[in-house]
Amino acid sequence: MGLDIDKIRADFPILKREVNGKPLVYFDNAATSQKPQVVIDAIVDYYSNYNANIHRGVHTLSQEGTDAYEQARKKIQAHFGAEKAHEIILTAGTTHSINIVATGFTDLLEKGDEIIVSALEHHSNIVPWQMLCERTGAILKVIPMNEEGSLVMDVYEELLSPKTKLVFVNHVSNALGTVNPIEFIIEKAHKVGAAVLIDGAQATPHIKPDVQKLGVDFYVASAHKLCGPTGVGVLYGKEEWLGKLPPYQGGGDMIDQVTFEKTTYAGLPHKFEAGTPNICGGIAFGVALDYMNNVGFDAIAAYEEELLQYATAELKQIKGLRIYGEAKEKTAVISFNVGTIHPYDIGTIVDKLGIAVRTGHHCAQPIMTFYNIPGTVRASFAFYNTKEEIDAMVAAVKKAVMMLS
Ligand code: ALA
Repeated sequence: MGLDIDKIRADFPILKREVNGKPLVYFDNAATSQKPQVVIDAIVDYYSNYNANIHRGVHTLSQEGTDAYEQARKKIQAHFGAEKAHEIILTAGTTHSINIVATGFTDLLEKGDEIIVSALEHHSNIVPWQMLCERTGAILKVIPMNEEGSLVMDVYEELLSPKTKLVFVNHVSNALGTVNPIEFIIEKAHKVGAAVLIDGAQATPHIKPDVQKLGVDFYVASAHKLCGPTGVGVLYGKEEWLGKLPPYQGGGDMIDQVTFEKTTYAGLPHKFEAGTPNICGGIAFGVALDYMNNVGFDAIAAYEEELLQYATAELKQIKGLRIYGEAKEKTAVISFNVGTIHPYDIGTIVDKLGIAVRTGHHCAQPIMTFYNIPGTVRASFAFYNTKEEIDAMVAAVKKAVMMLS
């Protein structure tokens, strides 16, 4: 079933606004998605009607908050296909989730152990592992990419050995949109006994992952890419792995017994959730998942594929325009440059015409180094975008090119 785009757009109040006197065309969805009214209402409802701290009070408001927060955890569990609700750790976002795992492995690695990441990673899936290598003496290996923006799987297989302890790859590249073959990556890693973390920050707005079917050890994502608020995300971990990792932070809500001699920790998920969490963020994350599941991920993927094909064909008609990342399996992301024009210049001019795109290295400098460019213009689409908006962007880019050439 196709999407009723007019109805969907009416759910997003921000899509009615103008920027620089022009209707907003929001094509920076890979940076963050816009929020439907139901998510905004959930936040207002929490603060208006039952704001209280959770897991800590017998009073009614605290219990209502706790129930809503734990219900959200169950929604997240169901969405990601986790076996148990306590395998869902609510975090501040993907970066926080990755750092919990990277820090947790400090005492589980030895000098000379190997960690594999990919050339397509966001800095948040590179730097924490480099820091882990510095702490432990482990060695970081990189799966290379090719010109079309895909990972070279033959080399991945050669990199794997009994020394490999961990493999970290994103499900989808934020800079290029490449969908990585994570089923193959997980299967091969497990054959040598390595654990796998998949960074799903860019995949989850388009693809509904099933962590049990994937057999993945850790899967991480952020609510704000999925129509939810910023400052909240998820760390899914298999129970056995979360059991092995030490807590990331000490504090309230993560303990069992505290004395000055010794503290024992709470069980999962609380062991990793020290301090007052982002309560309304967690609740709104659950509401956002309900909203997106209602729209339907199959319909979202099919519609976004249409937008991707249309925009690719239209942009390619601009003389001198090069698209970076043309893998067969892509989400609706187009990174491009025109001749030697700096991406910031194009971004600035199209903004004057109401078009929001991201420009720069997209926190993926190794990809820019591979292509020998300072950055790209990146248009990233969501299910509430339209072909008319793509026409407006293409016209704006043409105008910018004319002014800058
Ligand atoms: N990681 C986000 C992006 O790709 C912020 O724009």
